[in-house]
Amino acid sequence: MKTVDATGLLALLLAAVLLPGGCTRPGSQSEQEVQQDVYTIGMSQCNRNEPWRVQMDADVRAAAEKYPHLKVIFKDAQNDTVMQQTHVEDFVSAGVDLIIISPKETDPLTKPVAKAYDAGIPVIVLDRAVRGRKFTCFIGADNVAIGRAAGDWLVDTLQKKGIQEAKVVELKGLMTSEPGKDRNKGFREAIAGSQIEVIAEPEMEWLEDKARKEMESVLDQFSEIHAVYAHNDPGAHGAYLAAKAAGREKEMLFVGIDALPHEGVDYVSRGILDATFEYPTCGKEAVELADKILTKKVVLGSRLFSKENVDRGGQPLD
Ligand code: FRU
Repeated sequence: MKTVDATGLLALLLAAVLLPGGCTRPGSQSEQEVQQDVYTIGMSQCNRNEPWRVQMDADVRAAAEKYPHLKVIFKDAQNDTVMQQTHVEDFVSAGVDLIIISPKETDPLTKPVAKAYDAGIPVIVLDRAVRGRKFTCFIGADNVAIGRAAGDWLVDTLQKKGIQEAKVVELKGLMTSEPGKDRNKGFREAIAGSQIEVIAEPEMEWLEDKARKEMESVLDQFSEIHAVYAHNDPGAHGAYLAAKAAGREKEMLFVGIDALPHEGVDYVSRGILDATFEYPTCGKEAVELADKILTKKVVLGSRLFSKENVDRGGQPLD
């Protein structure tokens, strides 16, 4: 696989125009000598300044390397919704064959995605959903279930520690994105009727620095905190750093979500976080699905059955 920046786009698009979609070049080859065309995929990432998203792009890149006919153009919207809208529109004008998008926010990205889909470009949406049905496929994990599991884990763990009335901080992700809402919903369902009281619930917008600042002010306001549930591992780590700076990190549990091996899982091994829940990046699955969507022809093998081999189940052709 070759990854391509914006300057390489023109050359690719020329190739795409010269070799329109499909496995055959009409008139130039026999059906038997099918040459596979090159397909251009536009990958719109909402913020490559976050570890989980760096990993998603890396997973897309690694998976696409296994498909020489797929070329991926990566764009990073740098956490800017308007920039991400423009990226999707640019992909449409450039005539890419398929778009993979991990949107920053639900509502503002719904329309650009729908327009691309209406223009006949398949769109695979990853991790954060858009509204309606104008996209080809959504791939993501069940954030309500993850939030519920985090809540169940905290209820159990705090009970085992003998804490009767637990004071918990919920550091929320961006609440204009579906994972933020769902991780909140599942968690609240799990702790309903338990000994847990949520004493503060600031939005850290998925960002470690913001989580750290929010936690500093929570620490100033509350002299007793038993646990922090953050909607992602950067959030939990930011909270830990704030608590450590205040000399209070041993007073509370820290729970996050993502569980990247070199991030959340490593924090758990080092005793920084108490638990984290895996959130798959979907990068590999997106490329595998893109290949299926773009494939125009699948050639299957055949077998010879004769008197000599019929009892052995025939023999495959070379
Ligand atoms: C990265 C991230 C992940 C989180 C996901 C939710 O931007 O915040 O940490 O699991 O997005 O959409």
